Amino acid sequence: MFNNGIPENLFSKTDLKSFSGAIIFSYFCAILFQKYVKLSFLPPNLYNPFEMTDFKSLIEQNKQQYLDELFDILRIPSVSADPKYKADVFRAAEAIKTSLIKAGAEKVELCPTPGFPIVYGEKIIDAALPTVLVYGHYDVQPPDPLNLWTTPAFEPEIRDGNIFARGSADDKGQVFMHIKALELMLQTNQLTCNIKFMIEGEEEVGSSNLDEFLKSNKERLKADCVLVSDTSMIANDVPSITTGLRGLSYVEVEVTGPNRDLHSGVYGGGVANPVNVLCELIASLKDENKRVNIPGFYADVIELGTEERALINKAPFSVEEYKRELKIDDVQGETGYTTVERTSIRPTIDVNGIWGGYTGEGAKTVLPSKAYAKISMRLVPNQHPDKITELFKTHFESIAPKSVKVKVTPHHGGHPAVTPVDSIEYKAAALAMKQTFGKDPIPARGGGSIPIVASFENILGLKTVLMGFGLDTDDIHSPNEHYGIFNYLKGIETIPYFYSFYASLKKEGGN
Ligand code: BES
Ligand code: MN
Ligand code: MN
Repeated sequence: MFNNGIPENLFSKTDLKSFSGAIIFSYFCAILFQKYVKLSFLPPNLYNPFEMTDFKSLIEQNKQQYLDELFDILRIPSVSADPKYKADVFRAAEAIKTSLIKAGAEKVELCPTPGFPIVYGEKIIDAALPTVLVYGHYDVQPPDPLNLWTTPAFEPEIRDGNIFARGSADDKGQVFMHIKALELMLQTNQLTCNIKFMIEGEEEVGSSNLDEFLKSNKERLKADCVLVSDTSMIANDVPSITTGLRGLSYVEVEVTGPNRDLHSGVYGGGVANPVNVLCELIASLKDENKRVNIPGFYADVIELGTEERALINKAPFSVEEYKRELKIDDVQGETGYTTVERTSIRPTIDVNGIWGGYTGEGAKTVLPSKAYAKISMRLVPNQHPDKITELFKTHFESIAPKSVKVKVTPHHGGHPAVTPVDSIEYKAAALAMKQTFGKDPIPARGGGSIPIVASFENILGLKTVLMGFGLDTDDIHSPNEHYGIFNYLKGIETIPYFYSFYASLKKEGGN
């Protein structure tokens, strides 16, 4: 009776008269026990998570299988940015679909988009219970530079307790925690919420087909909140919940000089070299205080107050360790802000790639005709990605000398997002993490971008809780991306608690 997955405070539904006296007696004994003996640190009347099966030992028993199944997904090179992997991205969608079905999800299907499909699946157990929409992505970043991987990107291997593979942390490993958690909850009959899954294949290329999917599937995606594991924590012994993400404006620039590559001795000194010009233009995009030098760039930035900034800087962070870990002698960034602030609540601009001219072996004396760069701007509330892209374009064209032509091509963008810390879903995530980490998680703003989070709010009216289990040092998007086995298993263990706390908090809160 206590193992059927129904929170104790739903028992009022049951016709107790039909139970024998002995069962009623043991029921009240159990209530008293869980309320006063085991759970004195929890608010009263919360569903007692200790009544749930001991997931920890079950997870330990299933560990090898969980790893093997994740490895199968990690072997699929689902790189959304590169057309040569197109078939593999579809294959990864199929694999996610199969594992959702195996876990016990229903109505599992691949929803086609003009790009890669969205995998949908659900488990609805009771219309009276809250519904959680789980979002994640099965696509990954390109693996290059390949020669810097110790073992190949799509041949997962365990070293020092970490799973090395592209997508291990971002985001296949984290998506898979949710699938395994569902499987566990269903196996032990302890699912306490309705769950809907929406796993997409275009996150790493800007989720450009997702808004349309949300708009045309409002009924199907109806939920009480969104749960996402696609971010990191401060450390394995400092659990945290991400409370904000930066937005993004991404552009590509092309600088054209003479109509063809020239001999750099014959023409050098007399004709603008587009690579030189591009470097000068890029260098001018930040001033001596490392502030972005684009007129209007900061106009909509919300400046945080001293109290809020103090709170952000209270999170454990050592700049010395940061430097040591990155093997740099100094950090660098906007004057007047700490490293934590620079990488979360402040906007910035960075070149992601730059090329032109001769880059092969040895030396070739050439004055190139063209130069290129890919530039990203990380945005904070309330900067608008389209407005920032426009400001960049106007500015970049205006500063180009007459000796070259410049072309600015916008790529994807994304809105920044701030997620509340006073919501029921945040509380449920915090209680769940406290349960499994033994410590209250710290709220922390993140520096990366997940553009869909703003769309969940704007299109579906849903708040998101960003309960990620990665670490900043997982090397996502870099060679040797890895995900801790500890983190993978801890995620599987924590997720069921999220649902049980969420169900009871929702019942308490009455909405
Ligand atoms: N999972 C990341 C975002 C992230 C990572 C947020 C770590 C917070 C901490 C996501 O997959 C990602 O890489 N997003 C892209 C944006 C996208 C539009 C290409 C990013 O942030 O570069
Ligand atoms: Mn991700
Ligand atoms: Mn990513």
